[in-house]
Amino acid sequence: MRTTVGIIGAGPAGLLLARLLHNAGIDSVVLESRDRAYVERRQRAGILEQGTVDVLRAAGAGERMDREGLRHDGVELRFDRRRHRVDFPALTGGRSVMVYAQTEVCKDLIALQLKEGGPLLFEAEALAVEDAESERPRVRFRYAGADGDGSRREGVLECDYVVGCDGYWGVARKAVPASLSRAFERTYPFGWLGILADVPPSHDELVYARHDRGFALLSMRSPSVSRLYLQVPDGTDAGEWDDEEIWAELERRFETADGWRLRRGPITQKSVTPMRSFVHEPMRHGRLFLAGDAAHIVPPTGAKGLNLAVGDVVTFARALVHRRETGSARLLDAYSESCLRRVWQAERFSYDMTTLLHRAPGATPFEDRLQLARLERIASSRSAETDLAEAYTGLPFQ
Ligand code: APR
Ligand code: PHB
Repeated sequence: MRTTVGIIGAGPAGLLLARLLHNAGIDSVVLESRDRAYVERRQRAGILEQGTVDVLRAAGAGERMDREGLRHDGVELRFDRRRHRVDFPALTGGRSVMVYAQTEVCKDLIALQLKEGGPLLFEAEALAVEDAESERPRVRFRYAGADGDGSRREGVLECDYVVGCDGYWGVARKAVPASLSRAFERTYPFGWLGILADVPPSHDELVYARHDRGFALLSMRSPSVSRLYLQVPDGTDAGEWDDEEIWAELERRFETADGWRLRRGPITQKSVTPMRSFVHEPMRHGRLFLAGDAAHIVPPTGAKGLNLAVGDVVTFARALVHRRETGSARLLDAYSESCLRRVWQAERFSYDMTTLLHRAPGATPFEDRLQLARLERIASSRSAETDLAEAYTGLPFQ
C-alpha cells in the first residue's frame, strides 16, 4: 500500500488529521489497532476550546456539535464551602467553551471519513515505523485476514510522511532514537475515579471543588447524563467503590454553606484514570511527526488533552499544504517548535490546576492554607481570574 500521509491511530488527533488532509486534497491512510466500537466508546474529557470548535466547523465536522453541544460561559470553583463563578466571556473578550464529548467528536469524524475520506482501517495495528529519516518512511502493520478465521497478516504502508497519532502507549515515538530525544515526566500520587450517571447535571456549569478530603469535579455529557470525578489514591481499583460510597463522598466534597444539593442517579460506568504530565521532545524525526498523546500527556484537570491534539494536527496539515503550494519545507521544519510552545503552556496550566485543587497525600496544613490562598486570590483579583479564564478557553490558534 502507498499513500502520502500514513496516520497511526484513530483517536481525535488521527481522525481530525485525516479530515483536514482530505479537505486539502491530500490522501492518507489511517491504521487503528482497536475496533470501531471501542474507539467510539472510550470515555475522555469533553471540553472543546473556542479554537477547537472553530476548526471542527471549518473542517465540515461541526454540524452535530452545533446542534447537541452545550456552550458554557463559565465554571464554578468551590472551596471552603463557598462558590465562585469564573465568567469566561467577560474576562476574555467573548470567548467560551463547548461541552461535547470526545466520543461524539470521534463518532462524527469516523462517519465522515468512512463516507467520503480515504481508507480508515480498524483492527490494523502498527508494529513499527521504519526508515523515518528517508524520503519513503514505512509503517509495518498487522491486520485481520479476510477469511475471518482470526488469523493475522502483516502489511507495509509506504508513505511520504508518517504521523504518529497513536497515543501514549503507541509505537511511533519509539522510532525516534533515544540519543536524539528527551522526555519530561511527572506522575501524581493520585488518580480520578470517574462515573457516568443517568441523572441531569446538578449544576448548569462545571464545578471544580477543592476539599480537605480531595478534589471533585462535576461535569456532564448531555442534559440528562452527568459525568463526575473524585480524586482517589494512586492505584485505586474502581471496583473498590460501591455506588453509595461514591455519592456520599461526592456530596461531602461538593457541600456548600448555601445548601446546594447533588442529584443522585443510576451509575452506568466507573473507571479510574491515572494522572501524569509528559512531553517528548522533539515532536519530529525526519519524516515522522508525533501528534497528540503520542507526544504529550496532560493531567485532565484543565481538559487540555484533546485541544492540544487539535493544535498539533492543524499545525501539521497547514505545514504540508504550505509545502505543496510553495515548495518550502519551512513550516514542516518548524513543526516541533511551534507545537511545543503551545504544549508547554498547556502543561503549565494543567499542572497549576492540578496542584491548586488536589490534596497530595501528606500535604501539610501550611500547604492547605496556601491552596486556599491561591483560590482566594483567583476569586478576588480580576487579573488572577483572567489568567485562568484565558488559559481555560484557550489561546487562539496561530
Ligand atoms: N497501531 C494503531 N493504532 C494504535 C496503536 C498502534 N500500534 N497504538 C495505539 N493506537 C491507537 C489507539 O487505539 C487509539 O485509538 O491510537 C489511538 C490514539 O488515540 P488517543 O489515545 O485518543 O490519542 P489522541 O488522538 O492523541 O487523543 C488526543 O484526546 O481524547 C483525548 O484524552 C485524549 O488527550 C487525548 C486527546
Ligand atoms: C469531563 O467532562 O470528562 C471533563 C471535564 C473537565 C475536565 C476534565 C474532564 O477538566
